[in-house]
Amino acid sequence: MEYLEMEGGVPLEGKVEISGSKNATLPIMAASLMASDEVILHGIPDLEDVHVMADGLCLLGAKIKKEGHTLIIDSRTVDQYTLPESLSRRMRASNLIMGALLGKFKEARVAMPGGCAIGSRPMDQHLKGFALLGYQVDADKGVMTGSYKNSRGKRQVLLDFPSVGATENLMMAACLTPGETVLRNVAREPEIVDLQNFLNHLGARIQGAGKDIIQIEGVTRLHGGEYRVIPDRIEAGTFMVGAAMTGGSVWVEKMQPNHLYAVIAKLHEMGIEVLTGKNSCRVIGQQGFYAADLKTMPYPGMPTDMQPQLMALLAMARGTSVIVENIFENRFMHVDALRNMGAAISIEGKIAIVRGPIRYHGATVQATDLRAGAAMVLAGLAAEGQTRVTGLEHIIRGYEHIEDKLQALGARIRKVETTQA
Ligand code: UD1
Repeated sequence: MEYLEMEGGVPLEGKVEISGSKNATLPIMAASLMASDEVILHGIPDLEDVHVMADGLCLLGAKIKKEGHTLIIDSRTVDQYTLPESLSRRMRASNLIMGALLGKFKEARVAMPGGCAIGSRPMDQHLKGFALLGYQVDADKGVMTGSYKNSRGKRQVLLDFPSVGATENLMMAACLTPGETVLRNVAREPEIVDLQNFLNHLGARIQGAGKDIIQIEGVTRLHGGEYRVIPDRIEAGTFMVGAAMTGGSVWVEKMQPNHLYAVIAKLHEMGIEVLTGKNSCRVIGQQGFYAADLKTMPYPGMPTDMQPQLMALLAMARGTSVIVENIFENRFMHVDALRNMGAAISIEGKIAIVRGPIRYHGATVQATDLRAGAAMVLAGLAAEGQTRVTGLEHIIRGYEHIEDKLQALGARIRKVETTQA
């Protein structure tokens, strides 16, 4: 078993460089399956989810070389269009392989990824979209299948909800499906724009990403190319919140502040000083910041992936904050752990009431999912005494070398490996 052990109360001070975006990397890796030549990807974070996606591509026949933060993906040898359950079970985002396989082979079989700790996460919008693109789709006995029938004229897909994964899957499938597709009410996250830029770099014809309508003209092939993924806005936001919680002063570098506008605006509202540069932010923590209400929303609203970390911060703020989680139905898994560490939080359905200010104290807590784990680590860094965060396997899915980066900022944190459960 591995866990993170920290001695809290040390302000984070210094500079931290943000890694490449996990949520941009995963769809871009999946999309690389469609390229008919080598793809070279730079800025790829060394994360468990990235390793799982690489395993998935290799199972389908791709050859992958890793050189530091660069991945060289050769999909010319891909000859399978079936992704087995053994792989899908390991990562929800493996569903993104479905759109890429449909684009490449016009045929795919991908085991359903299932739900996860934060919600049931159905695939209905993905499947509805594939059907409207002209694919015969089925989801039976836990397996999604699709094969191209035909479709005439301009295809229109209206998503009931701007799902990030459905938008990405449909962009991938549509870019190699003959004819014109219009996707409406799509997700507008920066990772969607990054996928469009990557696919267009390989010869796709997509426009509109970042707005709520995307237009795609199918092409017959995608060539190879070299591309750098955007920085991870959630990792950046996590370090910013960490600086505020520990009363430290951190330059968060190699990030894009405009991708984190909602978080920066909320920190300002709380009275926390954030200075923004072109590719960096400096957060200067101070004693006594104020409660603020927040609601998670699709981009450009407040990201659900920052809700646990911001809740951990708001527990320390003066006054009562109301947090509404609108994206996932079960995303308050961190609350029990934060309460064990001293937070005063009550839950009613999708609403959390956070009463501050409290001072965290150390405890042994278990990470139940990626961002819940991040919130626990931040609370541990702010706490008096020692904290252990177990369930490290969740945290390493999304934070590259988190203990090294925090140590470099002065945190007394270490990874402990033990044979005892
Ligand atoms: C992506 C991100 C994840 C982030 C989430 C929301 C990746 C790899 N993951 O996940 O970190 O928290 O966006 O910003 O990029 N839904 C349906 N039917 C569907 C699809 C989605 O009901 O067919 C629901 C989901 O259950 C959820 C909501 O829509 O309640 C948002 O999901 P979605 O935007 O699809 O998130 P993911 O792409 O899974």
